[in-house]
Amino acid sequence: MQESGGNMKAGIIVYSQTGNTMSVAQKLEEAINKAGHEATILRIEALNETAPYQLKSAPEVAPFDTIVFASPVQAFSLAPVMKLYLSRISSLTDKKVYCFVTQQLKKAWLGGNHALRQVAQACKLKDAEVAGSGVVNWSSELREKQIDEIVNKIMSSM
Ligand SMILES: Cc1cc2nc3c(=O)[nH]c(=O)nc-3n(C[C@H](O)[C@H](O)[C@H](O)COP(=O)(O)O)c2cc1C
Repeated sequence: MQESGGNMKAGIIVYSQTGNTMSVAQKLEEAINKAGHEATILRIEALNETAPYQLKSAPEVAPFDTIVFASPVQAFSLAPVMKLYLSRISSLTDKKVYCFVTQQLKKAWLGGNHALRQVAQACKLKDAEVAGSGVVNWSSELREKQIDEIVNKIMSSM
């Protein structure tokens, strides 16, 4: 097995209400670990699923060189719980950051792209550019291909 940049510690930080985003995160985790790196899934949890949101668990970003933020699209935007979480995290300086979102509808312009821009904006406030991102359109026939593309994109730069 070939390793490019030595052993990387990746944190896959996931908000998932109904399991779609988590299932993509698990595929990614498996691929990263198979390649000889160390990936860990950490869950963001909310106390409530309506506003005002409160976080029950908010994983630390500090232990990781590479971080993948993963969230569903809600109401044509980034899920509010993820938005709140990103506003609370500590600095992302010198970290390699990726993100993906899942959405039910077939087209990324129905919320997915907007959600990715929101993640990019939030990360910028924490001093990081997003190095790669993707949308998974859950009801699209391209879904598995989109998942593979996201996994490959992240893997290829580790
Ligand atoms: C409150 C709410 C709002 C949603 N809004 C959208 C939306 O605007 N566009 C869309 O494509 N899907 C929307 N969805 C569907 C989810 O984005 C989609 O099912 C996603 O894959 C769920 O991820 P999860 O299973 O990880 O929670 C919405 C779901 C919920 C619960």
